[in-house]
Amino acid sequence: LRMVLIGPPGAGKGTQAPNLVEKFHAAHLATGDMLRSQVAQGTELGKEAKKIMDKGGLVSDDIMVNMIKSELSSDKCKRGFILDGFPRTIPQAKLLDKMLEEQDKPLQKAVELKIDDELLVSRITGRLVHPASGRSYHKSFNPPKVEGKDDVTGEDLVQRSDDNAEALKKRLGSYHDQTEPIVNYYKEKGIWAGVDASQNPAKVWGDIIKCLGFNA
Ligand code: AP5
Ligand code: ZN
Repeated sequence: LRMVLIGPPGAGKGTQAPNLVEKFHAAHLATGDMLRSQVAQGTELGKEAKKIMDKGGLVSDDIMVNMIKSELSSDKCKRGFILDGFPRTIPQAKLLDKMLEEQDKPLQKAVELKIDDELLVSRITGRLVHPASGRSYHKSFNPPKVEGKDDVTGEDLVQRSDDNAEALKKRLGSYHDQTEPIVNYYKEKGIWAGVDASQNPAKVWGDIIKCLGFNA
């Protein structure tokens, strides 16, 4: 399966992607996770990216396209990929198509997780993440088995530095201005499907599976 997950911050991209990985044995390519790993390693790219991410802006198309290019051609994508957080602009979407055409592996589906902005504040401010794996939890909606600890590794969960109301406002602005136009781009290509992401995670998953043509 070769697909893109589109949705505003907190829509559930990172929550649903592991389900897709498990079902289709595809790779989860989350550009936000990749950037946070650069930040954690203290690389030059990470230092530059952190300033932009904490303000809710977008890292340049050049950097992002280079980052995703090597991933897409790597072995882990041989059974497909779930893109999460990429593409985020029309130029990124066009360059992605070009890369995939060169490999003769066009995108099969772009699933939009649709949800109103007002519902996202509580999701974002209550989120806890396991930095090493990118797994995310929620203090009330999806609590870990042991408070503050990752279910799989038992390691500490943390709050992302951009998960506050102020940065969220800017991230939503970036989403509506720069990312939402890619929805029409995929509609015109005939590979778009929309899912109501305000439902509980199991229902959202059921709808994703349905629009991919499977039974939950
Ligand atoms: P990124 O990491 O991609 O952040 P984002 O797009 O803002 O998305 P989130 O990770 O916040 O949301 P999500 O949809 O994954 O939500 P989740 O499933 O965790 O990017 C971060 C930054 O990196 C960007 O701002 C940008 O600066 C930069 N960047 C990344 N890619 C880039 C690119 N291509 N170009 C340029 N810049 C780029 O869920 C959220 C919470 O809600 C969790 O606590 C979860 O448990 C809970 N939850 C999930 N589903 C439900 C549900 N159905 N009901 C109740 N609660 C739920
Ligand atoms: Zn995410």
